[in-house]
Amino acid sequence: MSKRIGVLTGGGDCPGLNAVIRAVVRRAIMHGGYELVGIKHGWRGLLDCDTMPLEREDVRGILHRGGTILGTSRTNIFKSEETAQKAVENISKLKLDAIVAIGGEDTLGIAKKLTDRKINVVGCPKTIDNDLKGTDLTFGFDTAVSIATEAVDRLHTTAESHNRVLVCEVMGRHAGWIAAYAGLAGGADCILIPEKPIDVEEVCEMVQQRHRKGVDFSIIVVAEGAKIKGEDEVLASQRTDDFGHVQLGGIGHVLANMVNERTGFDTRVTVLGHVQRGGTPTAFDRVLGTRYGVAAMDAVHNGHFGVLVALRGNEIVEVPLAKVAEGIRTLDEEFYKMTKTFWGY
Ligand code: F6P
Repeated sequence: MSKRIGVLTGGGDCPGLNAVIRAVVRRAIMHGGYELVGIKHGWRGLLDCDTMPLEREDVRGILHRGGTILGTSRTNIFKSEETAQKAVENISKLKLDAIVAIGGEDTLGIAKKLTDRKINVVGCPKTIDNDLKGTDLTFGFDTAVSIATEAVDRLHTTAESHNRVLVCEVMGRHAGWIAAYAGLAGGADCILIPEKPIDVEEVCEMVQQRHRKGVDFSIIVVAEGAKIKGEDEVLASQRTDDFGHVQLGGIGHVLANMVNERTGFDTRVTVLGHVQRGGTPTAFDRVLGTRYGVAAMDAVHNGHFGVLVALRGNEIVEVPLAKVAEGIRTLDEEFYKMTKTFWGY
């Protein structure tokens, strides 16, 4: 009898999710002896027993497509013991021998808790924020950086034409990976990240220095999770999700107003938002996602559970799922310092 393997995608969507799903299915077909079951809308699908078949035809033509054919949600099945038990019961009701969970810290946190309840789970590291412990890189990050870099390129020409300061707010809840990479690649004049409180006077001095030297425009890239020194994060809404996360957004506007008030320069804001998450994944993310999917199915095939497939250097390895729970992988400090070489004039 074939083994039934559930596959789900949880948390915010991310370019490359379909590449992973396709790779899991294709690798399972190659190994033989598996029936793949798509669990719809992340962990919510487990509570509702909402599933779909995942056969060869179901994953045809999806490699290049953004989003996820399985749908996603931020459902936390461990919000109560009742839902946790229901999820565990439904896993046996659905006759699932194992689950491949594709997600970020929240989704993989649940994967770890299920592992503790003797459920066979393999994790795949997903997030455009690239802030997961245990892996050198998450898929989706490269696409988000490409989109943000293109935006910064485009902002340059209009900033220069109008002699403006343009603030570009990018995603990055706890870590400044997208801001730092897109800022560096796009030649931003200042990069602000959640890991380092913003010194507004320093930012203004940088903008004014450029003007004094005859360069009368500036580009500032700021991560949505960055805070003004001594202040809290700027929220788009007080509402929290199942995991207690607030909705961030607005630091770009707050900062732009401060820069405008202090310098008198015309300062405008562009918030990239979900544009960074939608649409076609880059070739790099398709390849990385594919490698993760293949490795996840190999882990299932080899009976390696409670693991996260991860990138170390250029090699795919398996690390304990517990690694993810150790915290956020913040931006490398030396890397951030290096970006300062290119700030200001
Ligand atoms: O975790 C990835 C991320 O893109 C964060 O940078 C951002 O704060 C969050 O998701 C926003 O997600 P959503 O709008 O889906 O709640």
